[in-house]
Amino acid sequence: MVEEKTIGYKAYIAENEKMFLDELFALLRIPSISADTNFSESVFAAADFVAEKLKVAGADKVEICQTDGYPIVYGEKMVSPELPTVLVYGHYDVQPVDPLELWHSPPFEPVLKDGKIYARGASDDKGQMYMHVKAFEMMMRTNSLACNVKFMIEGEEEVGSRNLEIFVRNNKERLKADVILISDTTMLANDVPSISVGLRGLSYVEVEVTGPNRDLHSGMYGGAVANPINILCEMIAKMKDANNHITIPHFYDDVIELSTEERGQMAKAPFSLADYKAALDLSDIHGEAGYSTMERTSIRPTLDVNGIWGGYTGEGAKTVIASKAYAKISMRLVPNQDPDKTVELFSNYFQSVAPKSVKVKVTPHHGGHPVVTPSDSVAYRAASKAFEQTFGKTPIPTRSGGSIPIVAMFKSVLGLDSVMMGFGLDSDAIHSPNEKYGVFNYLIGIETLGLFYQNYAKAF
Ligand code: BES
Ligand code: MN
Ligand code: MN
Repeated sequence: MVEEKTIGYKAYIAENEKMFLDELFALLRIPSISADTNFSESVFAAADFVAEKLKVAGADKVEICQTDGYPIVYGEKMVSPELPTVLVYGHYDVQPVDPLELWHSPPFEPVLKDGKIYARGASDDKGQMYMHVKAFEMMMRTNSLACNVKFMIEGEEEVGSRNLEIFVRNNKERLKADVILISDTTMLANDVPSISVGLRGLSYVEVEVTGPNRDLHSGMYGGAVANPINILCEMIAKMKDANNHITIPHFYDDVIELSTEERGQMAKAPFSLADYKAALDLSDIHGEAGYSTMERTSIRPTLDVNGIWGGYTGEGAKTVIASKAYAKISMRLVPNQDPDKTVELFSNYFQSVAPKSVKVKVTPHHGGHPVVTPSDSVAYRAASKAFEQTFGKTPIPTRSGGSIPIVAMFKSVLGLDSVMMGFGLDSDAIHSPNEKYGVFNYLIGIETLGLFYQNYAKAF
């Protein structure tokens, strides 16, 4: 029976491929950048688009739930109280596009090239989120929807999901489900399917270092007063030692170390360092001593400067000692690190390494908890089997380096685990210029999601 359904979905997808692509392209044309208020109208328009398509697909109770920020699109199809309920989460907002000059085609004019869809949001997360809408429609049209389904698609993921948390807390009854299903992560490769079973958490701070009360002539004062840019660089340099180990006292106290066995299991996933370096034009890699590249990007915490500025950056040379220097610093967290506690540890240490000659201010931004999801649940096995059916290979459970803070929140507030069936690739260049998503990934994603529902209902 599963075999028949596989074939049925394949044929349906082949017949509807053009429509699937046309609709995704229309969604990608909406510049729904949540971080930039200049695009606010478009962010609302993207919500309308998703709501409309859910309706057309056959969802009931479709509602654009307003929040203090961007709306959450809700919709559901309840088939029977006997059947399990899948709550689909995704986001319709996208990252800003800068630097625009590095795009080969305009970010909101999607183009199809060599089997890839190029556009901001193609992979993160419009392309992946929309697979769920089309998989749902496919199940409705082929009379094969085997589970109840609820959709919760938000527009503030890229800016911290502040209002989603409030929505979830206020809608526990409406959101009752058995599992959460998300496509917002990556697989190892198109011929090495994998399922994410972990996400890193995040602490994010902005720091400000103030020296003199005004910008100074660097000849008249240089050498005699603290240059906040120099000082900031020194302070940042003190955050890591020669082994690239983070030096903040107690930073690693709560980090769960993996057993030798678990690390051995991880090391089995295929990985080519040569390919990795070649893809990024790197002559060497860089990271914490004693850990592999895979480990550094999944089970180990990080500290990175995301941006640094101050002083004169215009044309030519201006001889000046700036009054202020700034940096944005992120820390990726692993179980069981706490984002608030980590910000406090950072802040204390950062203040402690500042010389008396400067003043320091640390401002926390949004953060999120790390999470590990089960790889032995009924839902995970249903997902794993679906990948087997479409890719012909058992997917490898992997832990992702990125963060989706609401996954931990879903667990703590709704008591629900998530299954992260991501179909993106690391080479999709999410958040970067020329973001793309493979047509292969988009279509096989729709099919695999459809099969998940079949498998889950059967095993439930
Ligand atoms: N979809 C990504 C997260 C992701 C990407 C997880 C790849 C695993 C693999 C998500 O949209 C994202 O970008 N999250 C942000 C955090 C958020 C608080 C801005 C991130 O990871 O930087
Ligand atoms: Mn995303
Ligand atoms: Mn993102």
